[in-house]
Amino acid sequence: MANTVKLKYTTPGMSESDATRVVELLQDRLNAATDLHLTLKHVHWNVVGPHFISVHEMIDPQVDEVREFADDLAERIATLGGSPIGTPGALVAARTWDEYSIGRDTTQAHLGALDLVYQGVITSYRDAIKELDDLDLVTQDMLIGQTDKLELFHWFVRAHLEDKSGALSTADAHSEQEAARAAG
Ligand SMILES: [Fe+2]
Repeated sequence: MANTVKLKYTTPGMSESDATRVVELLQDRLNAATDLHLTLKHVHWNVVGPHFISVHEMIDPQVDEVREFADDLAERIATLGGSPIGTPGALVAARTWDEYSIGRDTTQAHLGALDLVYQGVITSYRDAIKELDDLDLVTQDMLIGQTDKLELFHWFVRAHLEDKSGALSTADAHSEQEAARAAG
């Protein structure tokens, strides 16, 4: 794992210990972004029902953008003297969240589940942003930019789950399955 490898050099003005922790945070974000763009493509392929085409087509620009996030995160790791890990087995071994659990299902079921996926991803981005306050403002800036986009995409998803009072059908859901049922 890159996290345990000693950095041979890092960017000027950063201590080795700070850079090592920033690389760990970036690797965790790289895992999250890779997992998310693969999951979004899975949703793109598996949605069914009368709103198929709008949801199918809404998802692809999110896939493209999140793939770009992964590339930027990986290249930042290399810039800091680390070695980005991009293989699927390492991702699965390192991740702290469960595999996306919905197969072929209605657009509403997937959007309900995606509400929970985005909640998890955005919360973990915000945790990393807070920790970077004392470590590296340049990396923090990258994560803030990505979070801005993730929160926009989350709104695109939630706009399908909202009634005209602004209440979310998934408000009480604690799992993807519960959210999928509530949204349907
Ligand atoms: Fe496609």
